[in-house]
Amino acid sequence: MSRDPIDAVRARIAALKRHSLVSLPTPLERAERLGQSLRIDLLIKRDDLMGLGAGGNKLRKLEFIVGKALDEGYDTLLTTGGIQSNHARQTAAAAARQGLACELHLRGRSPDNLTGNVLLSSILGAELHYHEDADYAEIDRRMAARAEILSTQGRRALVIPLGGGTAEGTVGYVLAVAEIMRQISDGGAPDLFVVAGGTGSTAAGLSLGTQLFSPGTSVLAVSASWKKDVLSGEIARHRRAAAELLGIEDKAAVWVDDSFVGPGYSQVSEAGRTALLTLARSDGILLDTTYTAKAMSGLIALVRAGRIAPDAKVVFWHTGGTPELFTRTTYELAI
Ligand SMILES: Cc1ncc(COP(=O)(O)O)c(C=O)c1O
Repeated sequence: MSRDPIDAVRARIAALKRHSLVSLPTPLERAERLGQSLRIDLLIKRDDLMGLGAGGNKLRKLEFIVGKALDEGYDTLLTTGGIQSNHARQTAAAAARQGLACELHLRGRSPDNLTGNVLLSSILGAELHYHEDADYAEIDRRMAARAEILSTQGRRALVIPLGGGTAEGTVGYVLAVAEIMRQISDGGAPDLFVVAGGTGSTAAGLSLGTQLFSPGTSVLAVSASWKKDVLSGEIARHRRAAAELLGIEDKAAVWVDDSFVGPGYSQVSEAGRTALLTLARSDGILLDTTYTAKAMSGLIALVRAGRIAPDAKVVFWHTGGTPELFTRTTYELAI
């Protein structure tokens, strides 16, 4: 008799090294007032409320990445991101929790004054390196060279890719779907998950997760940066890698929309600014301007345009990022 395919996947996941960093499940809350005004059932999955290092989506990935690092005897974590990288800050927090050293190789100029995420990364004890003149491919090369140098000093450094996008990391969001389905088992499956898309591995994990645990739920990734074809390609790449790790066929599809990036990555968009103020003032929930406010602006616009059906049950994945708000000015937010 063949085994239940879900059991087989669960066995594969159970065999992965994982180190608990977060108290799960994260809360699932109904945004009553914004939901009512949009005429949808709007739930918010509060992955911003994890208890380690100000929380956020990367911690679900880092549970697997750190698990592997500890199992394989690494003593140092190296990773990259922008100056205000949430992933870098969460990596610094995970390293601190485990007593690992952490180097962050940030893309951009050394700031005169540390604020927001980079301030928190410094508080969390990470060593900060700035690369003003390099793209991410070059920073990857520099991190590999740095890991080599550290190895000559008797250290073992694990280089974590941009956004924590390893196959194991993506599995963190496959499991997040199983988690949310347990939370809403009384009320019926959501029609749609909405998530901000950066490197695409969170959306990839969510879409593989729906394939396994909630096949009727679609996934919308609202790009915070990349054009649709680039983000779609990266989501597909992350999905394939995680599907292979789990021994399943990749049948998932993601709806990608790149029309809400506004003036550019990490720059405030007018629609994002409005979405941020709207949710804050209707339901008391804060978003960040780089990722989640843009994703929320996409959700609001697509409901208004009739692309998301009235009465739909929609889960907005709050992936965190709010430390970045403390770098913003009243001028930028026009308040
Ligand atoms: C707050 C926040 N939301 C969403 C994302 C996007 O996640 P991913 O890179 O997995 O697409 C990121 C990171 O890039 C983030 O920091």
